[in-house]
Amino acid sequence: MKSQHATFPLVVVSNRLPVDRIVAEDGTASWTQSPGGLVTALEPVMRVNHGAWVGWAGAPDLDVDPFENNGISIVPVPLSGEELENYYEGFSNGTLWPLYHDVIAPPRYHREWWDTYLAVNQRFAEVAARTAAHGGVVWVQDYQLQLVPRMLRGLRPDLVIGFFNHIPFPPYGIYSQLPWRTQIIEGLLGADVIGFQRAADANNFTTAVRRLLGYNTNSPHIEVPVDRDLQDAGLASHVSTSKRGETVRTVIAKRFPISIDTQSFEEMARRPEVQERARQIRVDLGNPRTIMLGVDRLDYTKGIGHRLKAYGELLTEGRLNVEDVTLVQVASPSRERVAAYQDLRDEIELQVGRLNGEFSTISHNALSYHHQGYPREEMVALYLAADVMLVTALRDGMNLVAKEYVASRFDNDGVLVLSEFAGASDDLKQALLINPHDIEGLKETILQAMAMPARDRARRMRALRKRVRDNDVTKWSKSFLDALTEASSLAHAPRFKSIHDD
Ligand code: G6P
Repeated sequence: MKSQHATFPLVVVSNRLPVDRIVAEDGTASWTQSPGGLVTALEPVMRVNHGAWVGWAGAPDLDVDPFENNGISIVPVPLSGEELENYYEGFSNGTLWPLYHDVIAPPRYHREWWDTYLAVNQRFAEVAARTAAHGGVVWVQDYQLQLVPRMLRGLRPDLVIGFFNHIPFPPYGIYSQLPWRTQIIEGLLGADVIGFQRAADANNFTTAVRRLLGYNTNSPHIEVPVDRDLQDAGLASHVSTSKRGETVRTVIAKRFPISIDTQSFEEMARRPEVQERARQIRVDLGNPRTIMLGVDRLDYTKGIGHRLKAYGELLTEGRLNVEDVTLVQVASPSRERVAAYQDLRDEIELQVGRLNGEFSTISHNALSYHHQGYPREEMVALYLAADVMLVTALRDGMNLVAKEYVASRFDNDGVLVLSEFAGASDDLKQALLINPHDIEGLKETILQAMAMPARDRARRMRALRKRVRDNDVTKWSKSFLDALTEASSLAHAPRFKSIHDD
């Protein structure tokens, strides 16, 4: 363990750090900020507070000293190859990810994966405990680190602890499969505020707490009995007495739907060179009347196969003509060492090959498929070029691509087809909402989107844009941090500043 002296009033903990390590040809390494929305949202508040970010540096066995990047202190947590296999590829992405996404793929339960998940969560908790200042705020992110809140509370009862779950939380009938269901719930309840994407996720969690632990709940509050040891040692903070006469902490579990940095997407879309690129994309695709677009990590939760099936049937039935329409599918590589992802890639690429083989002409491709990630400029140009955006997730915590498309369409044009199983559908009601399992319904909706008159497109897009403008990621982080401040003010004076205090 490294010795580390500096401590910080605000600490964010996530599996991945918000920086990527670039190694040049001569072997020298440098760091660049990753493009994610989370870091964009938290950057201002982290800067004002001299915040620190604790996370894995993105490669096995990378043991790097803490450093500063763009005014944020970066505190790397080293993970070995074997730990990554068991904790990241195994328990996080082979057990929790499919379980939390409605068991679309079968979750695998391995005790050695769990043991490593426990050990790695403990390491993250210890690093966070060494990094946070007295009475500070620690905000833990996502399903890879669900045990950290409780472990951290055990190490540092003075801290105010938040947790945000970026993915769905499943109904109890599914969640209860997990052999370690009680430990996970107890792990999360170490936090003062637990955030979810949708009201349904918060309800599912609260139900699991009631069923497994029998605690009192009165949404959004959960009464958690305080460990006797902590009370005796005088270490329990902001406690009260419940109606049953127990000493309890009150934990808040509720919806905080995440968003994007809306303004930066719009600004990028307005740049002349990005618009020129969008025009060029249309020309390069053979000037089809309709460009449809799918943008996803190549993940089985995204319903890419359902989308291709609906599209293929429309072509087969002659209701679409390859001269008139192209589907651009960007499927960025993801979790490529996990078997279910390798199988999915084979399935999707077989489907893509078949469709192109059957329907493409020399001048027009049915599908333009890209197993690559692109810089944000190129994505925004694609959004501008796309007449119809297809988001057909079978289950998705939020789906930020839907929001990015809307944010980019400053021209109030384009039609968003959006799965009701994505959290974004709670907010984006003016999209054409679909059930991706209903292939006939999906086909009809694709045709409806293509035929929608310009006035209807503009009316819907204006309403969608208002939602995404009014609810951007800065508002999201502020509302979560405000909830934490409120929790902390029960026991301490708030010790960190909101960006809006300045
Ligand atoms: C989802 C998860 C994130 C994760 C991201 C990319 O959005 O909620 O926690 O970072 O996918 O997945 P990866 O496994 O590459 O980190």
